[in-house]
Amino acid sequence: MAQKIDQGSLLRFITCGSVDDGKSTLIGRLLYEAKMLFDDQLAALESDSRRVGTQGGDLDFALLVDGLAAEREQGITIDVAYRFFATDKRKFIVADTPGHEQYTRNMVTGASTADLAIILIDARKGVLTQTRRHAYLVSLLGIRRVVLAINKMDLVDFAQDVHDRILAEFTGFAEQLGLADIVAIPMSALRGDNVTQHSDAMPWYEGPALMPYLDDMELPGAAEGRPFRMPVQWVNRPNLDFRGFSGLIASGRIRPGDAIRVVPSGRTSTVARIVTADGDLPQAIEGQSVTLTLADEIDISRGDMLADAARPPEAADQFEVTLIWMAEEPMLPGRSYLLKLGAKTVTATVTSAKYKVNVNTLEHLAAKSLALNEIGICNIGLDQPIAFDAYKDNRDTGGFILIDRMTNETVGAGLLHFGLRRAQNVHWQPVDIDKAAQAKLKGQQPCVLWFTGLSGAGKSTIANLVEQDLFGRGRHTALLDGDNVRHGLNKDLGFTDADRVENIRRVAEVGKLMVEAGLIVMISFISPFRAERRMARELMQPGEFIEIFVDTPLAVAEQRDVKGLYKKARRGELAHFTGIDSPYEAPEQPDITVNTSVMTAREAADAIVRYLVDHRIV
Ligand code: ADX
Repeated sequence: MAQKIDQGSLLRFITCGSVDDGKSTLIGRLLYEAKMLFDDQLAALESDSRRVGTQGGDLDFALLVDGLAAEREQGITIDVAYRFFATDKRKFIVADTPGHEQYTRNMVTGASTADLAIILIDARKGVLTQTRRHAYLVSLLGIRRVVLAINKMDLVDFAQDVHDRILAEFTGFAEQLGLADIVAIPMSALRGDNVTQHSDAMPWYEGPALMPYLDDMELPGAAEGRPFRMPVQWVNRPNLDFRGFSGLIASGRIRPGDAIRVVPSGRTSTVARIVTADGDLPQAIEGQSVTLTLADEIDISRGDMLADAARPPEAADQFEVTLIWMAEEPMLPGRSYLLKLGAKTVTATVTSAKYKVNVNTLEHLAAKSLALNEIGICNIGLDQPIAFDAYKDNRDTGGFILIDRMTNETVGAGLLHFGLRRAQNVHWQPVDIDKAAQAKLKGQQPCVLWFTGLSGAGKSTIANLVEQDLFGRGRHTALLDGDNVRHGLNKDLGFTDADRVENIRRVAEVGKLMVEAGLIVMISFISPFRAERRMARELMQPGEFIEIFVDTPLAVAEQRDVKGLYKKARRGELAHFTGIDSPYEAPEQPDITVNTSVMTAREAADAIVRYLVDHRIV
């Protein structure tokens, strides 16, 4: 099995299709033909094929890959399995992306490094929605070469017209996607027709069999032409005499003496040394992990990008992007996520969803949010500028993932199109009468008292009493109440999850402006989601956000039903009602909790004021 193979001829590819299309059979067949199976695997395959195979005792290659996939059932979840095999000519890595559920997630993971995609089609079924989805993702992810494997030709009598019809239909769709480099190979992965050798059963087919095609395919030279990029993963400072910047070179090449620019800071220097464990290098290229030292002492930290000084990447904090949503929980504009690009993690929100794409027709559909597996074009905003390239120019420095801040799960994958210019043209204006001056004049410490709880819990009543008390003490206050704000600023919003997120985002921003004006602000909104309350807290300075949980049980709030809304909701006349058919996520660590089923509103307000006095807030 061990052969000496030129590293440069490594071909990475991905297979797209479901088990029914023969994906497992094809991968199993390739491993078998490349003689990459161990004797015991082969023996097991022979006996399994006899026992449970679907091929009448012949080798059932699908069993092989499913068998290899057994590791997944041992409690180790492997989203994408990378399988290695080699021929005399080159080495291969195939990303096997299992599963029907989560298919998009697996495919995106597998495709992000692939040079080529094999899209499988069952000749009996032709081009399906799923085929279009795969082709669309392949094109989005920047894979330019496609093998259309028209499989199971044995089940359509090896008929040329079936092949021609499928190819014509697929080509029509692929052209719209800009996929030009398509080779269609009619085959039977099961019988081996056109897998390693040209099949006698299809004399009309004049193209190559799959393996020879993969063997001989030329790949563009990797490092040439693209500008140098290295995201700093680690600042290596073992002692005062050494300061190196470690990372994986994402593109281009570097030599001592080359001029580099640090992005986003824009500082420049030249490379002094390229340090590795095996000594200094005269040059390094993409794919290598190195430590660079620079001629000058400049400020660089983890997540910064070192780049070719003459051709640096841009930096921006707002972008247009393609977003591929991968979570059960929908994407909600206004919610804050973590965005990870290279070594940099920042806070991001989708500022607007522009449209989503129907993968069958490539039509643009209006979208307010994105559900599982949907693909949309959105604008996003970050809390700080980052260095980036457009995804089409560089998959490593232009592709990102979004992470849920509560669960730490990857919920989306994104491709950067361009930085939004409006971000570059809007600057912070300094103000002379700042928060400190405002606070001093009013003789108080500005803050937000954030009341959260079910409808009817007593938030507004208590907030009112607290405000009266503070007002009586000569404090400068403001009260923002959900019902009232929804008559004006938030008149356009309803009660879907997406609208509630936006409702809270806006009122939190208003609260922040009022705090800057030196006020003590009471904000009384159901604010049912932890994520948005956390976002509101993070908008303020430490200590400025006091979360008050008006913890009244649903049964009590429903019993009171001051506005009659619970009854309406129970009758089914009011949808998405909090506590009935829309969730309420109780605070995990509120600063203050009051329960109006065991205390009066007056007692609750007094308890809150006492807290404020004790904590020297008023
Ligand atoms: S939030 O969930 O987006 O924070 P908000 O506090 O602004 O809600 O508004 C809640 C008020 O709107 C409730 O007190 C109630 O009077 C009214 N309301 C109308 N429909 C609903 C609904 N479906 N769910 C909750 N409250 C509703």
